[in-house]
Amino acid sequence: MPTIREVAQKAGVSVTTVSHVVNQTRVVAEDTQQRVKQVMQELGYRPNVLARSLRRGETHTLGLVLPDSANSFFAEMAYAIENCAFGRNYSLVLCNTSADPQKERLYSEVLFNKQVDGIIFVAAGDDTQSLQELLAHNLPVVVVDRHLENIPVDTVTSDNFQGGYLAAHHLIDLGQRDIAIIRGPSNISPSAARVTSSLQTFGEAGISIPAEWILYGDFHAKSGYLAMQQLLSLPKKPGAIFACNDLMAIGAMRAIYEAGLRIPKDISLIGFDNIELAAYTYPPLTTIGQPIQQLAEIAVSTLLQRIQTPESVCQRITLPNELIVRQSTRRIV
Ligand code: RIB
Repeated sequence: MPTIREVAQKAGVSVTTVSHVVNQTRVVAEDTQQRVKQVMQELGYRPNVLARSLRRGETHTLGLVLPDSANSFFAEMAYAIENCAFGRNYSLVLCNTSADPQKERLYSEVLFNKQVDGIIFVAAGDDTQSLQELLAHNLPVVVVDRHLENIPVDTVTSDNFQGGYLAAHHLIDLGQRDIAIIRGPSNISPSAARVTSSLQTFGEAGISIPAEWILYGDFHAKSGYLAMQQLLSLPKKPGAIFACNDLMAIGAMRAIYEAGLRIPKDISLIGFDNIELAAYTYPPLTTIGQPIQQLAEIAVSTLLQRIQTPESVCQRITLPNELIVRQSTRRIV
C-alpha cells in the first residue's frame, strides 16, 4: 500500500502538502494539487480516513515519544505523563528514540499502526519529518519541550528564555563575572534559547564570555565532566558555571572535585531542570526548576482535548521556570 511519503517524494512536495491536498486544510497551488492528485492516482494511494475514525478513542492508548528515556528529566516527565494518562483511563506506550531521527520515524509508524489515540512527542532535534507525517495522517499530537515554527501542532514547553535569564541574573546578583557555559546539543532548541538569553543578560550587565568558556555537552553527565575538565585546563579558570541541564552540572561537579577545588568556595555551579537528584548532590545543586509535573498534566489534557476536537485551534503553551537556590552558588562581592 503506497504511503503518503511515497506520494510526496514522487510529486516532489512535502508530506504536509500532500496532507493539505487530501484534507483541504490549506490552499495549495492548482498545479501542485493536480500533480499530487495525479501521483495519488498513479500509485493507488488511499488516505487513511478510515484509520482516523477507528482511532477516535477506540484504543484508549497514548504514545509517548522521547529522545532519551535514560535522562532523568525525561524519565521524570514520562513518569508524570503515565500517571496523568492512567488517571484519565488511558494506557501509555513509551518509545525511546535515542535522539535518532531514523528511530523516531520507525516508532512513529509503530504507534500509527498500533492505532494509538494520540501521541505526546518530544522531537529528537530539529528534524520534524516524522512529526509532519503523523500530522499528515490526522493523528492527534502534542509536542512537548519544543516550540516548532510553521507546523500546525499543539506545543507545551517551559519558558527557556526566561530560564536562561534567571540563571544568568542569579550569578550576576552574586557578583560573579568570570562565568562559563556548558550548553546542550546544538540542534536542541531549548538549550539554544537558554544560552541566547543568558548571554544577552550577561551582556546587559557588561559581562562578556570568551568563546573558549562556552562549551557544548550532550545533556549527559559525562559531557559535563569532560567540558569542566577542559575549562579547568585553561590558563584562566572561570569562577562560575551555568550548565544547561542538571546532569551536565553533576558531571561538572566531579571534575571540579577531582581538580582539588570546592563548590561553591572555588567555583559556583548552577544547573537547569531540577531533577530529583539535584537536591541530593553534595552540595545540593542550585538550578532552574522546570515545572515537570505541570508540563505533563497540561500535555495530557491538551492531547485529550485534541482527540475530542481535532479541528480546534492549535495551542502554544509556555510555562514559567523557577530559580531554586540551594548550596552550589555563592556571593563573591
Ligand atoms: O535534561 C534534558 C534537557 O533536554 C532538558 O533541559 C529538557 O528541556 C530537554 O530539552
